[in-house]
Amino acid sequence: MQGLLLLVFAKMMHLPFIRNSQTTYTRTGIFGYWGNKGAVSVRFSFYGHMVCFLNCHLAAHMHNALQRVDEFEHILETQDFDIFDTPHVLDHKVVFWFGDLNFRIEDHGLHFVRSSINGGRLNLLWSKDQLIMMKKKEPFLQEFEEGPLNFKPTYKFDRKADTYDTSGKKRKPAWTDRILWRIKPKSLPSGEEEEEEGDDEKASTFTDNGQDEYPILVTQNTYTSVMSYGVSDHKPVIGNFTLELRKCFDTQLVHVTPVGEWSADQNALLTYTILEDFMSSTWDWIGLYKVGFKSASDYETFVWVRENELPEVNEVIEKSVDKNEIPLLSEEYVLGYYSTNLNSIVGLSDNFQILESKRAAVEGLVPKDINGINN
Ligand SMILES: *[C@@H]1O[C@H](CO)[C@@H](O)[C@H](O)[C@H]1NC(C)=O
Repeated sequence: MQGLLLLVFAKMMHLPFIRNSQTTYTRTGIFGYWGNKGAVSVRFSFYGHMVCFLNCHLAAHMHNALQRVDEFEHILETQDFDIFDTPHVLDHKVVFWFGDLNFRIEDHGLHFVRSSINGGRLNLLWSKDQLIMMKKKEPFLQEFEEGPLNFKPTYKFDRKADTYDTSGKKRKPAWTDRILWRIKPKSLPSGEEEEEEGDDEKASTFTDNGQDEYPILVTQNTYTSVMSYGVSDHKPVIGNFTLELRKCFDTQLVHVTPVGEWSADQNALLTYTILEDFMSSTWDWIGLYKVGFKSASDYETFVWVRENELPEVNEVIEKSVDKNEIPLLSEEYVLGYYSTNLNSIVGLSDNFQILESKRAAVEGLVPKDINGINN
C-alpha cells in the first residue's frame, strides 16, 4: 500500500520452515482519510506456529483516540487470509502489532511534558498516554502486551535534529510509534463450551492446528528508539524479541541438491525429491540463488519442476540446467524449491560453489594479469 511498507527478513536456515506466507492490506479511507493511512500485514507458518505481523498507520490528531481504536478494530475485522485455520489476524498464535499508531499524551500541558522528558521522568506521562488509557477500557486491547515506554516520545522532531518541534505549531511530544504483541489466549478445553456433538469436530481442530498444543514464549529484550535518525519528524522504534517454541516439524518438504560440478562450461544437473505430500504443483520451480539472496524472485535462473505429471513422494527427479543460464564467475550458490501454493521456498540445498567458466576470461569478466597490456 502506498506509504506503508513491511519487510520480513529471515536467516537462510529458517527459510524452508517459513510456509504459507500471505499478505493483505486495508485502507482506512472509509473513515474520511485518504492516502497513507491503513494497515499492511504478512502472515506465515513458522515451524508450524502461525505468526502475523501487522503494520498500522492510524488516524492523526489528539482528539481522535477513539477513532484510532475503531480503525484498529475495523482492520482486525476486515483483514482476512486464504487459510482455513487462521483466516484472521487474531487467529494467529503470535501477532506483532506496530507502526505509527498515533496515540498522544492527554491533559498535560506542553511545558509539563517537555520538562518530564528532559528530567528523565517519563513515568509521569504514562498514565496519560492514550494507548495505555484505551487498554484499560477495551478488553480486546488488553490482550496486546507492550514493554515499558522507557524511551523519549518519538514525535514530533524537527527534521535532521533531535529537538522537539520548534515550529509555530509546537506539537506536544507523543509516543506515536509503538510495538505490541499478542499471544493467542488458550482455547477452552474441549467439552467446556459446546454440547456433546461438537466434540469430534473440536478434537480434529486441535490436531490440525498443531500450534494449539505447543506453547510459544515471547520475550522482549529491548524496546527503544534511535535518536540519531533525522530523515523523519518521528524517531524509529526498535523492539528486539526472542521467540522460544517447540518446532511442529523440522524436515524440509523437498530435498534438492546439485549433482557434480557446476560451471557454465557444460549443462549442469540437479535432483529433487518430494519427501512429504504437500500441495505441490506443476507451476513449482527450482531457482538458483546467490547465497544472501533477498527474495524468492531473486534467482539467477530457474527450471520448472516438471512439465506434465507431479512426481511421487520419494521419487528422485533429475533436471538439467542449460549452461548458458549458469553464471560465469565462481561464487557460492544455493538451490531453492519454490512452492507456488505455499508461496514459499520449501526445500533448500546446501550451499555450493559454482566454478569459474573458461568463458569468463574470454568475455573480459576476469581481471587481466597484473603485467598484462591492459594495465
Ligand atoms: C537482540 O537481543 C539478543 C538478546 O539480548 C541479542 O543476542 C541480539 O544480538 C539482539 N539483536 C540485535 C539485532 O540487536
